[in-house]
Amino acid sequence: MAALKHVYESQQFTQEFLDQLFILADQMRIDASKHQLPGKILASLFYEPSTRTRLSFEAAMLRLGGQVISTEMAKEFSSHSKGESLEDSIKVIGAYADVIALRHHEIGAAKRAALASSVPLINAGDGAGQHPTQALLDLYTIQRQFGEIDGLTVAMVGDLLYGRTTRSLCYLLGKFYKVKLIFVAPPICRMANDILSFLGEHGVSWSEETDLEKAAAQADCIYMTRVQKERFLDMERYQEAAQKYKIGPSMLEHIRPNAIVMHPLPRLEEISAEVDQDPRMVYFDQAANGLWVRMALIKSLLDP
Ligand code: CP
Repeated sequence: MAALKHVYESQQFTQEFLDQLFILADQMRIDASKHQLPGKILASLFYEPSTRTRLSFEAAMLRLGGQVISTEMAKEFSSHSKGESLEDSIKVIGAYADVIALRHHEIGAAKRAALASSVPLINAGDGAGQHPTQALLDLYTIQRQFGEIDGLTVAMVGDLLYGRTTRSLCYLLGKFYKVKLIFVAPPICRMANDILSFLGEHGVSWSEETDLEKAAAQADCIYMTRVQKERFLDMERYQEAAQKYKIGPSMLEHIRPNAIVMHPLPRLEEISAEVDQDPRMVYFDQAANGLWVRMALIKSLLDP
């Protein structure tokens, strides 16, 4: 498998890497017994809250026959609270573990940590920067649903300015042929210019739409996101943005019959639990796919 030492941003993934990783994830789903990593240790170091990413990384390593050491709430419970630098923490943890999954509150922290790390370092989300392993499981979910990515229209909805999942997914979707992106965001959460420039440079067709019903009518995949309260200083502006785009029973008729609705989760009011039973809502399958993809990623980093 095409070797990577660290994973800190989606731009690192080649088409060949993605193909091989997804084949390995399929194998993990069926039978992981041939891919075991006995004796290997994952350190999960999380400075920001997480349910899916931390627990699926830890479950992935346990299912591979390895073991896990973990610091959640690392801002308070690690020596960060005594003033230790991220680089020093990473150097020390690298002596205890074979791979580190890091979630941090600062954009670019994972790349900095990777430079200091003697063992593979995986970005599990760096502030409003990137979430490359979420993008992997998102792409894997889309590929499993449609068979291929080329030619799909993807509507990304919600907090596109601070949303690290949509940023990372844009970098991946930009590798495919004739993918169209429609961005649907409140005015204060529009997709940032660095991503729009990247898409332009790579010949990816994108547009902005203010009407979710119109976007839904064109989309094969609707990727909803939470407006992130923790990234806002002004609560009035947050409330206004958070109320803008929602999927509930009245939206179902506007979503195409073969489309899917994704969400990296956690969700708040942007998707009503009333629509969860609709077969087009795949966000819980998407979260479950994180386990297989993270197993495949850990295996590829430790035993390429
Ligand atoms: N999707 C995601 O990153 O979820 P968590 O914040 O729960 O890890």
